[in-house]
Amino acid sequence: MSAANEFVSNAALKSRRDEALPAGLPSKSGVYAAKAENAELWDVEGKRYIDFIGGIGVLNVGHRHPKVVEAIKRQADQFIHTCFGIAQYEIYVELAERLNLLAPGKTVKKTVLFNSGAEAVENCVKFARRITGRPGVIAFEGAFHGRTLLATTLTGKSKPYKVGFGPLVPGIFHAPYPDAYHGISEKGCLACLEHIFKTQIPVEEVAAIIVEPVQGEGGFNPAPASFLQALRKICDDNGILMILDEIQSGMGRTGKMFAIEHAGVEPDLIACAKSIAAGVPLAAVIGKADLLDKIAPGGMGSTYGGNPIACAAALAVLEVFEEEGLLARAETIGRRVAASWRELQAGPARGLFGDVRQVGGMIAVECVEDNDPKRPNAKLSGDILTAARERGLLMTTAGSHAQCLRCLVPLTVSDDVLDEGLEIFAAATRASIDAP
Ligand SMILES: Cc1ncc(COP(=O)(O)O)c(C=O)c1O
Repeated sequence: MSAANEFVSNAALKSRRDEALPAGLPSKSGVYAAKAENAELWDVEGKRYIDFIGGIGVLNVGHRHPKVVEAIKRQADQFIHTCFGIAQYEIYVELAERLNLLAPGKTVKKTVLFNSGAEAVENCVKFARRITGRPGVIAFEGAFHGRTLLATTLTGKSKPYKVGFGPLVPGIFHAPYPDAYHGISEKGCLACLEHIFKTQIPVEEVAAIIVEPVQGEGGFNPAPASFLQALRKICDDNGILMILDEIQSGMGRTGKMFAIEHAGVEPDLIACAKSIAAGVPLAAVIGKADLLDKIAPGGMGSTYGGNPIACAAALAVLEVFEEEGLLARAETIGRRVAASWRELQAGPARGLFGDVRQVGGMIAVECVEDNDPKRPNAKLSGDILTAARERGLLMTTAGSHAQCLRCLVPLTVSDDVLDEGLEIFAAATRASIDAP
């Protein structure tokens, strides 16, 4: 398939983009998309890419899955927008019913829909404050929760996310997140949390602890199950709500619908977005019904939240997951990618691929120097990223120094395309290591 258009080029669009858009908006790749299908994308010059990043974790069912496209078209033929607060519609209710049943734990759930991950996170925190009547929130170092002011405050990485945007939102405190590879122990993190309660905010003033079960932007760093269980106990013992940010790790990416299921923990509120609607903007807050019902009418909502097109797409996504067995497929894909990257780690990238991490279909490799976790090698991750792109593979980085390369390939990818992508990755790695 070719999507070449003789009248446009990536370079020409970049120059228009540089004139029309602010510099702060990231666009490292220089790739201007013309068409995409499943795990492949073609740029405006007709160059084909294998997509190992899926719009950063948005395309667990791939680009333009026929069922999703059909659902969107069907809905567009009926109505596109009413505002749920003005004229309601069945598919919003149906999607909430489905998510309530999928959410982990036995407690009865309710769901409210929004537009973006940051908006879901903001609302979780807002609700937690209202429900508990307390101001404080604990988040974690290395976390990424979005780019609105509160989500930026919750994020645990200063540059480029927080620098110069202060004063940030008061009442937010950051604890360390366990990271065995970098020597940050679970025990030490729990001790730090106690220390925060002792020195910065009394535990009885804490409304919520917000945590990613696998840090995304932070470098695909999974929290040990025992850590998440310990957080649950701290929350239970102290009347604190446990908020799970499943925006990147959720919707089947890790082989469970929600990554927290690996730890057997039931959160109070869950923020979901990204892959929920295969690229149509949609987010959800799923929470224990008795808690969400404490928010008075008018305390939640939004003009576009739960837009009908997005709800139709999301219902199609859930159908695709069931019909195509994508939870199991996430684990198969993850193992295949991790095995291929571990081969490089044991071969040409020895000492440079410090750690390969995999939770289902969420896989990252961390580039270091001399096998030393304390010496991040962002030059190597950047070089591999560029070399892969030149050879037709799209990826992105993660980690505090952008020293990790992450894979969030659509779970619908064929074995052939996956293997082709892994071969490109291996060639890009070899070329980057051999380069002077
Ligand atoms: C874990 C996590 N939380 C929140 C967000 C913010 O989502 P959005 O960009 O849709 O606001 C992201 C986005 O990358 C994310 O990965």
